[in-house]
Amino acid sequence: MWVYVEDLKDYIGQEVELRGWVWNIRSSGKIHFLQFRDGTGFVQVVVERSDVGEEVFEVASKLRIESSVIIRGKIVEDRRSPYGVEVHAKGIVPVQIPEEPYPISKKDHGIDFLMSYRHLWLRSRRQFHILKVRDAMLTAIRQFYRQRNFVLIDTPIFTGAIGESAGNLFELDYFDYGKVYLTQTGQLYLEAACMAFGKVYNLGPTFRAEKSKTRRHLIEFWMHEAEVAYYEHEDNLRLQEELVSYIVKYVLDNALEHLIALGRDVSKLEKVCVPFERITYDEAIKLLQKNGSDIRWGDDFGGDEETIIASNFEKPVFVTHYPRKAKAFYMQPDPHKPEVVLCGDLLAPEGYGEIIGGSQRIHDYNLLLDRLNEFNLPEDKYQWYLDLRKWGSVPHSGFGLGIERTVAWICGLEHIRESIPFARTLYRIYP
Ligand code: 4AD
Ligand code: MG
Repeated sequence: MWVYVEDLKDYIGQEVELRGWVWNIRSSGKIHFLQFRDGTGFVQVVVERSDVGEEVFEVASKLRIESSVIIRGKIVEDRRSPYGVEVHAKGIVPVQIPEEPYPISKKDHGIDFLMSYRHLWLRSRRQFHILKVRDAMLTAIRQFYRQRNFVLIDTPIFTGAIGESAGNLFELDYFDYGKVYLTQTGQLYLEAACMAFGKVYNLGPTFRAEKSKTRRHLIEFWMHEAEVAYYEHEDNLRLQEELVSYIVKYVLDNALEHLIALGRDVSKLEKVCVPFERITYDEAIKLLQKNGSDIRWGDDFGGDEETIIASNFEKPVFVTHYPRKAKAFYMQPDPHKPEVVLCGDLLAPEGYGEIIGGSQRIHDYNLLLDRLNEFNLPEDKYQWYLDLRKWGSVPHSGFGLGIERTVAWICGLEHIRESIPFARTLYRIYP
Protein backbone atom coordinates (compact mmCIF):
# COMPACT_ATOMS: atom_id res chain seq x y z
CA MET A 1 0.00 0.00 0.00
CA TRP A 2 1.34 3.45 -1.05
CA VAL A 3 1.52 5.84 1.91
CA TYR A 4 2.80 9.43 2.11
CA VAL A 5 5.44 10.43 4.66
CA GLU A 6 3.01 12.82 6.35
CA ASP A 7 0.75 9.85 7.21
CA LEU A 8 3.43 7.37 8.32
CA LYS A 9 2.76 7.74 12.05
CA ASP A 10 -0.58 5.96 11.50
CA TYR A 11 1.25 2.91 10.13
CA ILE A 12 3.71 2.05 12.93
CA GLY A 13 4.53 -1.66 12.86
CA GLN A 14 3.17 -2.10 9.32
CA GLU A 15 4.87 -2.61 6.01
CA VAL A 16 4.04 0.05 3.40
CA GLU A 17 5.26 1.44 0.08
CA LEU A 18 6.84 4.91 -0.26
CA ARG A 19 7.32 6.74 -3.56
CA GLY A 20 9.77 9.60 -3.69
CA TRP A 21 13.39 10.69 -3.89
CA VAL A 22 16.62 10.18 -1.99
CA TRP A 23 18.06 13.57 -1.04
CA ASN A 24 21.07 12.34 0.91
CA ILE A 25 22.93 9.08 1.54
CA ARG A 26 25.29 7.97 4.29
CA SER A 27 26.75 4.49 4.00
CA SER A 28 29.01 1.97 5.65
CA GLY A 29 29.74 -1.59 4.56
CA LYS A 30 26.79 -2.94 6.54
CA ILE A 31 24.21 -0.17 6.51
CA HIS A 32 22.87 2.66 4.31
CA PHE A 33 20.99 5.62 5.74
CA LEU A 34 18.83 7.07 2.97
CA GLN A 35 17.33 10.50 3.59
CA PHE A 36 14.04 10.22 1.78
CA ARG A 37 11.43 12.81 0.78
CA ASP A 38 8.15 12.47 -1.08
CA GLY A 39 6.81 16.03 -1.22
CA THR A 40 4.81 15.68 1.99
CA GLY A 41 7.75 15.30 4.34
CA PHE A 42 11.15 13.84 5.09
CA VAL A 43 12.04 10.54 6.73
CA GLN A 44 15.11 8.38 7.25
CA VAL A 45 15.20 4.95 5.60
CA VAL A 46 17.58 2.40 7.08
CA VAL A 47 18.86 -0.31 4.76
CA GLU A 48 20.71 -3.02 6.70
CA ARG A 49 22.61 -5.72 4.85
CA SER A 50 21.65 -8.40 7.38
CA ASP A 51 18.00 -7.37 7.10
CA VAL A 52 17.42 -6.91 3.34
CA GLY A 53 19.89 -9.43 1.92
CA GLU A 54 22.67 -9.00 -0.62
CA GLU A 55 20.59 -8.12 -3.68
CA VAL A 56 18.58 -5.23 -2.21
CA PHE A 57 21.66 -3.94 -0.39
CA GLU A 58 23.52 -3.77 -3.71
CA VAL A 59 20.63 -1.87 -5.34
CA ALA A 60 20.81 0.67 -2.51
CA SER A 61 24.58 0.98 -3.00
CA LYS A 62 23.98 2.22 -6.55
CA LEU A 63 21.64 5.05 -5.54
CA ARG A 64 22.86 8.62 -5.91
CA ILE A 65 21.53 11.89 -4.59
CA GLU A 66 18.12 12.69 -6.12
CA SER A 67 17.51 9.15 -7.35
CA SER A 68 13.80 8.52 -7.58
CA VAL A 69 12.82 5.31 -5.79
CA ILE A 70 9.95 3.16 -4.63
CA ILE A 71 10.70 1.71 -1.22
CA ARG A 72 8.93 -1.05 0.66
CA GLY A 73 9.60 -0.94 4.36
CA LYS A 74 8.43 -1.39 7.90
CA ILE A 75 7.48 1.73 9.86
CA VAL A 76 9.19 1.94 13.24
CA GLU A 77 8.63 4.52 15.95
CA ASP A 78 11.53 6.98 16.31
CA ARG A 79 11.25 9.90 18.67
CA ARG A 80 14.19 11.80 17.14
CA SER A 81 12.39 12.23 13.81
CA PRO A 82 9.97 15.18 13.42
CA TYR A 83 7.50 12.67 11.98
CA GLY A 84 8.07 10.29 14.89
CA VAL A 85 9.05 7.38 12.66
CA GLU A 86 11.84 5.78 10.68
CA VAL A 87 11.57 3.24 7.86
CA HIS A 88 13.35 -0.13 7.86
CA ALA A 89 13.68 -1.02 4.19
CA LYS A 90 12.63 -4.41 2.86
CA GLY A 91 12.75 -3.69 -0.86
CA ILE A 92 14.00 -0.87 -3.14
CA VAL A 93 13.06 -0.25 -6.77
CA PRO A 94 14.91 2.63 -8.45
CA VAL A 95 12.75 4.62 -10.88
CA GLN A 96 15.63 6.72 -12.21
CA ILE A 97 19.23 6.93 -11.08
CA PRO A 98 20.96 10.19 -12.12
CA GLU A 99 24.07 9.84 -14.23
CA GLU A 100 25.53 13.15 -13.11
CA PRO A 101 26.18 14.45 -9.62
CA TYR A 102 23.38 16.65 -8.29
CA PRO A 103 24.37 20.29 -8.85
CA ILE A 104 23.15 21.50 -5.46
CA SER A 105 25.58 19.99 -2.99
CA LYS A 106 25.81 20.53 0.73
CA LYS A 107 28.43 23.24 0.50
CA ASP A 108 27.33 26.87 0.53
CA HIS A 109 26.20 28.06 -2.87
CA GLY A 110 25.81 31.72 -3.79
CA ILE A 111 22.29 33.04 -4.20
CA ASP A 112 22.70 33.53 -7.97
CA PHE A 113 23.65 29.90 -8.38
CA LEU A 114 20.68 28.77 -6.32
CA MET A 115 18.26 31.01 -8.21
CA SER A 116 19.57 29.63 -11.51
CA TYR A 117 18.75 26.16 -10.17
CA ARG A 118 15.45 27.24 -8.66
CA HIS A 119 13.73 24.31 -10.44
CA LEU A 120 15.86 21.95 -8.32
CA TRP A 121 16.34 24.20 -5.29
CA LEU A 122 12.59 23.89 -4.67
CA ARG A 123 13.32 20.36 -3.45
CA SER A 124 15.37 21.59 -0.49
CA ARG A 125 14.01 21.43 3.01
CA ARG A 126 14.14 25.19 3.54
CA GLN A 127 12.16 25.91 0.37
CA PHE A 128 9.71 23.17 1.29
CA HIS A 129 8.97 24.83 4.63
CA ILE A 130 8.64 28.33 3.14
CA LEU A 131 6.25 27.27 0.41
CA LYS A 132 4.18 25.18 2.83
CA VAL A 133 3.72 28.36 4.89
CA ARG A 134 2.71 30.21 1.73
CA ASP A 135 0.18 27.49 0.95
CA ALA A 136 -1.26 27.70 4.48
CA MET A 137 -1.48 31.48 4.17
CA LEU A 138 -3.44 31.31 0.92
CA THR A 139 -5.77 28.73 2.44
CA ALA A 140 -6.29 31.07 5.39
CA ILE A 141 -7.26 33.94 3.10
CA ARG A 142 -9.80 31.85 1.20
CA GLN A 143 -11.24 30.47 4.41
CA PHE A 144 -11.53 33.94 6.00
CA TYR A 145 -13.65 35.19 3.10
CA ARG A 146 -15.71 32.04 2.80
CA GLN A 147 -16.67 32.41 6.48
CA ARG A 148 -17.78 35.98 5.74
CA ASN A 149 -19.63 35.13 2.53
CA PHE A 150 -17.49 37.32 0.29
CA VAL A 151 -17.71 36.45 -3.41
CA LEU A 152 -14.51 35.54 -5.24
CA ILE A 153 -14.21 37.72 -8.35
CA ASP A 154 -11.36 36.84 -10.70
CA THR A 155 -10.15 40.11 -12.20
CA PRO A 156 -8.44 40.32 -15.61
CA ILE A 157 -4.70 40.43 -16.33
CA PHE A 158 -4.95 42.58 -19.49
CA THR A 159 -6.36 46.03 -18.91
CA GLY A 160 -6.72 49.29 -20.78
CA ALA A 161 -7.17 51.36 -17.62
CA ILE A 162 -4.09 52.05 -15.52
CA GLY A 163 -5.03 50.86 -12.05
CA GLU A 164 -2.39 52.38 -9.85
CA SER A 165 0.23 54.64 -11.43
CA ALA A 166 1.62 55.31 -14.89
CA GLY A 167 5.20 54.83 -13.75
CA ASN A 168 5.79 51.10 -13.86
CA LEU A 169 3.59 49.53 -16.53
CA PHE A 170 4.17 46.60 -18.86
CA GLU A 171 2.73 47.66 -22.19
CA LEU A 172 1.49 45.33 -24.94
CA ASP A 173 -0.23 45.68 -28.28
CA TYR A 174 -3.70 44.22 -28.17
CA PHE A 175 -4.87 43.53 -31.73
CA ASP A 176 -6.78 46.54 -33.14
CA TYR A 177 -7.38 48.03 -29.72
CA GLY A 178 -3.87 49.36 -29.36
CA LYS A 179 -1.97 49.68 -26.10
CA VAL A 180 -2.99 47.67 -23.08
CA TYR A 181 -1.16 46.86 -19.86
CA LEU A 182 -0.50 43.91 -17.61
CA THR A 183 -2.55 44.63 -14.53
CA GLN A 184 -0.98 46.38 -11.54
CA THR A 185 -4.09 45.74 -9.46
CA GLY A 186 -7.57 44.28 -9.90
CA GLN A 187 -9.05 47.02 -7.77
CA LEU A 188 -11.01 48.93 -10.41
CA TYR A 189 -12.77 45.72 -11.46
CA LEU A 190 -13.48 44.79 -7.84
CA GLU A 191 -15.09 48.21 -7.44
CA ALA A 192 -17.46 47.31 -10.27
CA ALA A 193 -18.11 43.88 -8.73
CA CYS A 194 -18.79 45.17 -5.20
CA MET A 195 -21.70 47.20 -6.59
CA ALA A 196 -23.10 43.88 -7.86
CA PHE A 197 -22.14 41.51 -5.01
CA GLY A 198 -21.60 43.78 -2.00
CA LYS A 199 -18.44 42.15 -0.62
CA VAL A 200 -15.87 40.73 -3.00
CA TYR A 201 -12.25 39.63 -3.15
CA ASN A 202 -9.65 38.40 -5.59
CA LEU A 203 -6.31 36.61 -5.50
CA GLY A 204 -3.97 36.65 -8.44
CA PRO A 205 -0.79 37.80 -10.11
CA THR A 206 -0.05 41.49 -10.67
CA PHE A 207 2.80 43.14 -12.55
CA ARG A 208 4.98 46.16 -11.95
CA ALA A 209 7.95 47.14 -14.08
CA GLU A 210 9.74 48.37 -10.97
CA LYS A 211 13.31 49.40 -11.65
CA SER A 212 14.04 49.05 -7.94
CA LYS A 213 16.27 46.20 -6.87
CA THR A 214 15.35 45.78 -3.22
CA ARG A 215 14.64 42.94 -0.81
CA ARG A 216 10.92 43.81 -1.06
CA HIS A 217 10.17 44.18 -4.75
CA LEU A 218 9.18 41.63 -7.33
CA ILE A 219 8.22 42.33 -10.94
CA GLU A 220 5.44 39.75 -10.83
CA PHE A 221 3.81 39.30 -7.46
CA TRP A 222 0.56 37.96 -6.10
CA MET A 223 -1.97 40.24 -4.55
CA HIS A 224 -5.11 39.57 -2.61
CA GLU A 225 -7.61 42.42 -2.76
CA ALA A 226 -10.97 43.01 -1.12
CA GLU A 227 -13.62 45.63 -1.83
CA VAL A 228 -16.84 46.31 0.07
CA ALA A 229 -19.75 48.56 -0.88
CA TYR A 230 -20.86 50.97 1.87
CA TYR A 231 -17.58 50.45 3.78
CA GLU A 232 -15.89 53.62 4.91
CA HIS A 233 -12.30 54.19 5.99
CA GLU A 234 -12.53 52.77 9.52
CA ASP A 235 -14.56 49.70 8.38
CA ASN A 236 -11.79 49.06 5.88
CA LEU A 237 -9.03 49.11 8.52
CA ARG A 238 -11.01 46.81 10.76
CA LEU A 239 -11.43 44.22 8.00
CA GLN A 240 -7.68 44.37 7.31
CA GLU A 241 -6.60 43.86 10.91
CA GLU A 242 -9.04 40.99 11.29
CA LEU A 243 -7.72 39.38 8.10
CA VAL A 244 -4.06 39.72 9.04
CA SER A 245 -4.63 38.40 12.57
CA TYR A 246 -6.61 35.50 11.12
CA ILE A 247 -3.83 34.64 8.67
CA VAL A 248 -1.15 34.68 11.37
CA LYS A 249 -3.24 32.58 13.76
CA TYR A 250 -4.11 30.11 11.02
CA VAL A 251 -0.44 29.68 10.12
CA LEU A 252 0.52 29.24 13.78
CA ASP A 253 -2.22 26.62 14.20
CA ASN A 254 -1.65 24.77 10.93
CA ALA A 255 1.95 25.27 9.86
CA LEU A 256 3.85 25.73 13.13
CA GLU A 257 6.29 22.90 12.35
CA HIS A 258 7.40 24.77 9.22
CA LEU A 259 7.95 28.06 11.06
CA ILE A 260 9.98 26.25 13.69
CA ALA A 261 12.01 24.43 11.05
CA LEU A 262 12.79 27.84 9.53
CA GLY A 263 14.02 29.09 12.91
CA ARG A 264 11.27 31.74 13.11
CA ASP A 265 10.78 33.39 16.51
CA VAL A 266 7.08 32.58 16.77
CA SER A 267 6.65 34.53 20.01
CA LYS A 268 6.69 37.68 17.84
CA LEU A 269 3.87 36.31 15.67
CA GLU A 270 1.83 35.26 18.69
CA LYS A 271 1.45 38.95 19.56
CA VAL A 272 -0.38 39.70 16.31
CA CYS A 273 -4.01 40.17 17.35
CA VAL A 274 -6.63 42.91 16.89
CA PRO A 275 -6.62 45.85 17.28
CA PHE A 276 -3.57 47.23 15.45
CA GLU A 277 -2.48 50.76 16.23
CA ARG A 278 -3.29 53.56 13.78
CA ILE A 279 -1.09 56.60 13.35
CA THR A 280 -1.62 59.37 10.84
CA TYR A 281 0.90 60.34 8.20
CA ASP A 282 1.49 63.58 10.15
CA GLU A 283 2.33 61.60 13.29
CA ALA A 284 4.58 59.30 11.26
CA ILE A 285 6.48 62.31 9.92
CA LYS A 286 7.06 63.55 13.47
CA LEU A 287 8.17 60.09 14.55
CA LEU A 288 10.63 59.92 11.65
CA GLN A 289 12.05 63.37 12.31
CA LYS A 290 12.47 62.45 15.98
CA ASN A 291 14.45 59.41 14.78
CA GLY A 292 16.81 61.60 12.78
CA SER A 293 15.21 61.40 9.32
CA ASP A 294 15.19 64.53 7.15
CA ILE A 295 11.86 63.61 5.51
CA ARG A 296 9.47 66.47 4.76
CA TRP A 297 5.69 66.61 4.71
CA GLY A 298 4.46 65.50 1.27
CA ASP A 299 7.16 62.90 0.61
CA ASP A 300 6.12 59.28 0.24
CA PHE A 301 7.79 56.74 2.50
CA GLY A 302 10.40 54.33 1.22
CA GLY A 303 11.56 51.09 2.79
CA ASP A 304 13.87 52.85 5.26
CA GLU A 305 11.13 55.10 6.59
CA GLU A 306 8.74 52.16 6.90
CA THR A 307 11.31 50.22 8.89
CA ILE A 308 11.87 53.10 11.31
CA ILE A 309 8.14 53.64 11.85
CA ALA A 310 7.40 49.94 12.32
CA SER A 311 10.28 49.47 14.75
CA ASN A 312 8.26 51.49 17.26
CA PHE A 313 5.52 48.82 17.30
CA GLU A 314 5.33 45.11 18.10
CA LYS A 315 2.34 44.46 15.86
CA PRO A 316 1.61 45.66 12.34
CA VAL A 317 0.72 49.37 12.38
CA PHE A 318 -1.54 51.42 10.10
CA VAL A 319 -0.28 54.71 8.72
CA THR A 320 -3.32 56.67 7.55
CA HIS A 321 -4.23 59.98 5.89
CA TYR A 322 -1.35 60.44 3.45
CA PRO A 323 -1.11 63.60 1.36
CA ARG A 324 -3.24 63.05 -1.72
CA LYS A 325 -0.33 64.01 -3.97
CA ALA A 326 1.67 61.02 -2.68
CA LYS A 327 -1.09 58.49 -3.46
CA ALA A 328 -3.20 57.12 -6.31
CA PHE A 329 -5.94 59.04 -8.16
CA TYR A 330 -8.94 57.13 -6.82
CA MET A 331 -8.61 57.88 -3.09
CA GLN A 332 -11.35 59.73 -1.24
CA PRO A 333 -10.26 63.04 0.33
CA ASP A 334 -10.68 63.47 4.06
CA PRO A 335 -13.73 65.77 4.44
CA HIS A 336 -12.04 67.54 7.39
CA LYS A 337 -8.69 67.98 5.64
CA PRO A 338 -8.96 67.68 1.87
CA GLU A 339 -5.20 67.73 1.23
CA VAL A 340 -5.01 64.22 2.75
CA VAL A 341 -6.88 61.06 1.71
CA LEU A 342 -8.76 58.35 3.60
CA CYS A 343 -6.14 55.68 3.09
CA GLY A 344 -4.11 53.30 5.17
CA ASP A 345 -0.88 51.43 4.61
CA LEU A 346 -0.26 48.52 6.93
CA LEU A 347 3.40 48.20 7.90
CA ALA A 348 4.64 44.84 9.15
CA PRO A 349 6.93 44.71 12.17
CA GLU A 350 10.59 43.68 12.11
CA GLY A 351 11.44 45.72 9.02
CA TYR A 352 9.22 43.93 6.48
CA GLY A 353 7.63 47.13 5.25
CA GLU A 354 4.23 47.78 3.70
CA ILE A 355 2.17 44.60 3.37
CA ILE A 356 -1.18 46.30 2.63
CA GLY A 357 -2.21 49.43 0.77
CA GLY A 358 -5.85 50.46 0.86
CA SER A 359 -8.31 53.33 0.91
CA GLN A 360 -11.83 54.59 0.70
CA ARG A 361 -12.59 55.32 -2.98
CA ILE A 362 -13.94 58.46 -4.58
CA HIS A 363 -17.65 57.87 -5.23
CA ASP A 364 -18.54 61.29 -6.65
CA TYR A 365 -18.57 61.43 -10.46
CA ASN A 366 -17.24 64.98 -10.85
CA LEU A 367 -14.50 64.63 -8.29
CA LEU A 368 -13.30 61.41 -9.94
CA LEU A 369 -13.31 63.10 -13.33
CA ASP A 370 -11.22 65.96 -11.91
CA ARG A 371 -8.73 63.50 -10.50
CA LEU A 372 -8.42 61.56 -13.76
CA ASN A 373 -7.56 64.84 -15.46
CA GLU A 374 -5.21 65.91 -12.70
CA PHE A 375 -3.30 62.61 -13.08
CA ASN A 376 -3.38 62.86 -16.91
CA LEU A 377 -5.30 59.61 -17.27
CA PRO A 378 -7.29 59.16 -20.51
CA GLU A 379 -10.97 59.61 -19.76
CA ASP A 380 -12.14 57.30 -22.54
CA LYS A 381 -10.37 54.29 -20.99
CA TYR A 382 -12.21 54.95 -17.71
CA GLN A 383 -15.75 55.38 -19.08
CA TRP A 384 -16.87 52.14 -17.47
CA TYR A 385 -15.25 53.13 -14.17
CA LEU A 386 -16.98 56.50 -14.28
CA ASP A 387 -20.29 54.74 -15.00
CA LEU A 388 -20.10 53.18 -11.52
CA ARG A 389 -20.44 56.73 -10.15
CA LYS A 390 -23.48 57.44 -12.34
CA TRP A 391 -25.78 54.65 -11.25
CA GLY A 392 -26.23 53.96 -7.56
CA SER A 393 -22.86 55.23 -6.43
CA VAL A 394 -22.09 54.62 -2.75
CA PRO A 395 -19.05 55.06 -0.50
CA HIS A 396 -16.89 51.98 -0.76
CA SER A 397 -13.47 50.89 0.36
CA GLY A 398 -10.91 48.18 -0.17
CA PHE A 399 -7.29 47.18 -0.02
CA GLY A 400 -4.60 44.95 -1.48
CA LEU A 401 -2.29 42.65 0.47
CA GLY A 402 1.04 41.62 -1.06
CA ILE A 403 1.28 37.84 -0.69
CA GLU A 404 5.07 37.57 -0.95
CA ARG A 405 5.82 40.37 1.49
CA THR A 406 3.47 38.74 3.96
CA VAL A 407 5.13 35.33 3.46
CA ALA A 408 8.55 36.96 3.94
CA TRP A 409 7.40 38.56 7.18
CA ILE A 410 5.67 35.46 8.59
CA CYS A 411 8.61 33.19 7.70
CA GLY A 412 11.22 35.77 8.72
CA LEU A 413 12.99 35.75 5.31
CA GLU A 414 15.78 38.14 4.45
CA HIS A 415 14.67 38.53 0.85
CA ILE A 416 11.32 38.34 -0.95
CA ARG A 417 12.68 36.08 -3.73
CA GLU A 418 12.30 32.93 -1.62
CA SER A 419 8.63 33.61 -0.87
CA ILE A 420 7.35 32.72 -4.36
CA PRO A 421 8.05 29.48 -6.27
CA PHE A 422 9.60 31.18 -9.30
CA ALA A 423 10.58 34.80 -8.63
CA ARG A 424 10.61 37.41 -11.38
CA THR A 425 13.06 40.13 -10.41
CA LEU A 426 14.77 42.94 -12.27
CA TYR A 427 17.62 40.76 -13.54
CA ARG A 428 16.07 37.31 -13.54
CA ILE A 429 13.40 35.48 -15.52
CA TYR A 430 15.15 32.07 -15.68
CA PRO A 431 14.01 29.40 -14.89
O1 4AD B 1 -0.01 49.57 -2.32
P1 4AD B 1 -0.35 48.96 -3.64
O2 4AD B 1 0.32 49.50 -4.83
O3 4AD B 1 -1.93 49.05 -3.73
C1 4AD B 1 -2.69 48.76 -4.81
O4 4AD B 1 -2.32 48.25 -5.83
C2 4AD B 1 -4.16 48.99 -4.55
N1 4AD B 1 -4.83 49.16 -5.85
C3 4AD B 1 -4.73 47.84 -3.78
C4 4AD B 1 -6.17 48.03 -3.46
O5 4AD B 1 -6.52 48.97 -2.77
N2 4AD B 1 -7.05 47.14 -3.95
O6 4AD B 1 -0.05 47.40 -3.58
C5 4AD B 1 -0.65 46.59 -2.58
C6 4AD B 1 0.40 45.72 -1.91
C7 4AD B 1 1.51 46.48 -1.20
O7 4AD B 1 1.11 46.90 0.09
C8 4AD B 1 2.61 45.46 -1.16
O8 4AD B 1 2.42 44.56 -0.09
C9 4AD B 1 2.41 44.71 -2.44
O9 4AD B 1 1.09 44.93 -2.86
N3 4AD B 1 3.34 45.15 -3.48
C10 4AD B 1 4.42 44.46 -3.89
N4 4AD B 1 4.92 43.27 -3.51
C11 4AD B 1 6.03 42.83 -4.12
N5 4AD B 1 6.66 43.49 -5.12
C12 4AD B 1 6.20 44.69 -5.55
N6 4AD B 1 6.81 45.31 -6.54
C13 4AD B 1 5.03 45.22 -4.92
N7 4AD B 1 4.29 46.34 -5.10
C14 4AD B 1 3.29 46.29 -4.22
MG1 MG C 1 1.24 51.04 -1.56
